[in-house]
This record gives sequence, structure tokens and C-alpha cells, in this order.
Amino acid sequence: MIASAIHINEQIADRLASDGWYVGESIFDAALGARLRDRAHELARRGALQPARIGRSTAAQGQTDLRRDDTLWLADAPEDAAERDALVAVHALRTTLNTSLYIGARSAELHFARYAPGAFYRTHRDRFRDDDARMITLVFYLNDDWSAGAGGELVLYERDDSGAVLARVPPRAGTMVCFRSELFPHEVLPAAQQRFSLTGWLRRDERMTV
Ligand code: OGA
Ligand code: MN
Repeated sequence: MIASAIHINEQIADRLASDGWYVGESIFDAALGARLRDRAHELARRGALQPARIGRSTAAQGQTDLRRDDTLWLADAPEDAAERDALVAVHALRTTLNTSLYIGARSAELHFARYAPGAFYRTHRDRFRDDDARMITLVFYLNDDWSAGAGGELVLYERDDSGAVLARVPPRAGTMVCFRSELFPHEVLPAAQQRFSLTGWLRRDERMTV
């Protein structure tokens, strides 16, 4: 593990302890970010990304009013080297957060997501009635160029449902978002261009496989 990654993990732990959320430099270095971007594009070209469901193991439902992204879950032991490296970095962060915040996160789940132009994800929290295992949300953006007028920002709202905006985040490569899954309402605004991310959760359980 390189020193800067350790430093970012600790910074994230500090921010989660004080505020419950972090927006900043990614735990993936630029090279890994580029490999994940290439992988996401390749999967999209192959048609591997499919309309998202809510929760990994629930049956497909009509969710198109809530969200319009296409996703693909990573395997727990991926064949793809970039996916494996991403999981290694995420588990290192999980270890740091367990040590410093005592959250006891036991597993991680990650999916690639593509928002086609016009796609969105309306305001929601990341814990669901049928699944309270998600503790920490992680979002890694995979878009090299993101102009100011392109939309597609993640808007993170105050936990009290007042609608006050905590952060408005353009989905630029190198940026990472991390927050306590149960606390903060958030949404993805429609974008004028394709928007790729790798999104995941640290979970309290040993995640079941599908
Ligand atoms: C999600 C989500 C945010 C983003 O997938 O639950 O809120 O910026 N994603 O992609
Ligand atoms: Mn979400």
C-alpha cells in the first residue's frame, strides 16, 4: 500500500467521524482510475450494463421513475485485474474505517454504473426497507472530462431532510464520495453526456451472493 493511499484512508475516516461524509481525492490513483474507466467502457460496449434494480438480490422491479442508470455488479473475486485492484483498495479502506470508527463492516459490494444522457437517480437514501446492511456508500467517478454545463452532479443533502445542500459534485475522474448510507439523502441530476461511475457499499453482513 502506497503512503498517499494510507493518508487518504485516514482523511476519509476523520471526515466520516466529524461530518459523516467525504468528498475529495480518490483512494484509486490515476492509473487505476483510467483502467476502471476503460473497463466500464468495454462492458458498456458489450451490453453488459443493464437497467438497475434496487438492492443486489431483490427481484427486478419497475424502478424507472426513481432511477434510470444501467449497472453491473462486480464478482467477489473478479477475473479482471482492474476490478480486483479496486476491491483491494476498498477493503483497505474498510479496514481503516473498522479500526478508527468501529463500524464493523464485514463485506463490500461494488457495481459499475452508466447514466445515459438524460438518466437520473431521484433523491433517496441508500438503505432500504428490506435491506439495512449498507453502512458506508462509496462512489468513484470515471469521467475524464466533465464540463461545468454538463449536469450529472451528485447532490448531497443535509440529513434532516431540510433540503439544504451539503455538496454538489461533478462526476470527474479522481473524485470520490463517501458517506454514511443511512443518513444523507442524495440524487444524481440528469446529464447531457454519458456518465460512468463505480459505486459501492461497505456492509455489516457477509454479503450473500446472487
Ligand atoms: C447510487 C447513487 C450516486 C452517484 O447508486 O445509489 O446514489 O453519484 N449514486 O452516482
Ligand atoms: Mn444512492
